[in-house]
Amino acid sequence: MPATTATHLPDYAEQLIRGRRATRAFRPDPVPEDTLRAVFSLAGAAPSNSNTQPWHVEVVSGAARDRLGKDLIAAHTDRRMSLDFPYRDDLYTGTYAQRRHEAGAAMYGALGIGRDDHERREAFNAESLNFYGAPHVALLFLPPNAEERMAADVGMYGQTLLLALTAYGIASCPQGLLSFYADTIRESLGIVSDRKILFGISFGFADTSAPVNNITVPRAELAETTRFHV
Ligand SMILES: Cc1cc2nc3c(=O)[nH]c(=O)nc-3n(C[C@H](O)[C@H](O)[C@H](O)COP(=O)(O)O)c2cc1C
Repeated sequence: MPATTATHLPDYAEQLIRGRRATRAFRPDPVPEDTLRAVFSLAGAAPSNSNTQPWHVEVVSGAARDRLGKDLIAAHTDRRMSLDFPYRDDLYTGTYAQRRHEAGAAMYGALGIGRDDHERREAFNAESLNFYGAPHVALLFLPPNAEERMAADVGMYGQTLLLALTAYGIASCPQGLLSFYADTIRESLGIVSDRKILFGISFGFADTSAPVNNITVPRAELAETTRFHV
């Protein structure tokens, strides 16, 4: 996001919310620890049902991050998937499948990877498990008994965290794929609790020269998603 030019709150909001993008190439330099603490403290201001704040966040950096990236890629290669929340390939149909297809086409187009180049698509997918090169990843967990309603709270936390990172000039990518290897994550980080992982967020400073970071995926027209009743 460019340095702020906004002068009043709605302008700040426009710049902050529209300035956030999924970033898929990072510089290796870490975020200073005091900035990390400020950002995660700010994210904790997210709303939740009855203020329950049912999120638990593991922030992984340094040697632990490098080990986790290697462990995830090994699990991916060996097809050792383990999901705390089920996923079906036919989850998205119709308009949703179409939007998903268009987002994929924009991303692979920027990478110069053709539609039928399954090998390079697969290689890029695998690389994403090394957090797209980001120096940090935040893993978002829910309590062991969690169901959909608590997932809404963690979604709120996730977007608040993305915006807090953006405000501090830190780029990010939410990654559902990381949660496909839940047991590997627990093992690699020595997590003994039964908390369930919903998704992860890779973050750090963007590699602004990478074409994959310069795509914009469009949003539906307001009338397509929102109806005003009077
Ligand atoms: C819950 C969630 C999971 C996501 N999972 C992935 C993922 O596994 N890999 C990836 O590259 N992007 C992932 N994304 C990023 C989306 O593709 C991206 O947010 C969307 O295309 C809109 O683009 P924008 O964030 O740049 O506006 C995910 C986003 C969300 C909110």
